[in-house]
Amino acid sequence: MRNINEDTITQAVIAAMVGCKNPRLRTIMTSLVQHLHSFAREVKLTEAEWELAIGFLTEVGHITDDKRQEFILLSDTLGLSTLVTAQNNAKPLACTDSTVFGPFFVDGAPELPLGSDIANGARGEPCYVSGQVRGLDGRPVAGASMDVWQSDEDGHYDVQVPAASGEHTHRARARLHTDAEGRFNFRSILAVPYPIPHDGPVGRMLDALGRHPWRPAHLHFMIVATGYERLITHVFRDGDPYLDSDAVFGVRSTLVADWVRHEAGPTPDGQQSEVPFYTLQYNFVLNPITVDEVQK
Ligand code: BEZ
Ligand code: FE
Repeated sequence: MRNINEDTITQAVIAAMVGCKNPRLRTIMTSLVQHLHSFAREVKLTEAEWELAIGFLTEVGHITDDKRQEFILLSDTLGLSTLVTAQNNAKPLACTDSTVFGPFFVDGAPELPLGSDIANGARGEPCYVSGQVRGLDGRPVAGASMDVWQSDEDGHYDVQVPAASGEHTHRARARLHTDAEGRFNFRSILAVPYPIPHDGPVGRMLDALGRHPWRPAHLHFMIVATGYERLITHVFRDGDPYLDSDAVFGVRSTLVADWVRHEAGPTPDGQQSEVPFYTLQYNFVLNPITVDEVQK
């Protein structure tokens, strides 16, 4: 294999993978090489642009650690996360739509009883959330595990705020379990719009592209129940100015709900609030796992 040129390089790289023992890996890498080379040919990529791209990816790697995932941000802002989510989560129309996972989920959030205040000191206006989890057949899903996470009123998730003690404190996140009727309720804080982390290479990329980093106000949910597909989604707040320009392309109309404002007074948990508060009511519909999928 010598004298490779502009016309023969793609085939040469593909042929070099002939010994790959993993057929899926070979399919993926063959297609990746074909598309990457077509892209470079189409835009007539210069050497200076290639160097810039390598520098950019190097920076994305350097800023990434166990708290900051710039590669996921890059995938999100380029729409790749939404594409992968959409093509892997096709389901009947009546089921709750999935949307992007995002980088702020924490495994092992505190398991709290229904009705708890999950804010745990996170600042924001009080918000009472309730609803029901059902299957596609309408039957309530009892005992479903429900992870909830959100930012505080400054738009920060707990993992973005360094803890004075060095110990991570879970705030505005929890794991709950639905009751015998599939119902859930908890107290938290009002979701607000916030910018995705934009002090790194992805922020610079958005800026250069004339894009803003804002996400519309939302609450994250991950619901897991035996016999159903895992649901990873958000509920978005109606009226938010960024619903039609989400920096990570995650909004679906079916996931937009009304957060109702109430003056100070009696709250859904039978207490009195001295300040205005919000309520959100949202029901989820899970897609059952078919026998075929179980056997896969
Ligand atoms: C989030 O909603 O938490 C999120 C999603 C994608 C990128 C950044 C943040
Ligand atoms: Fe979020």
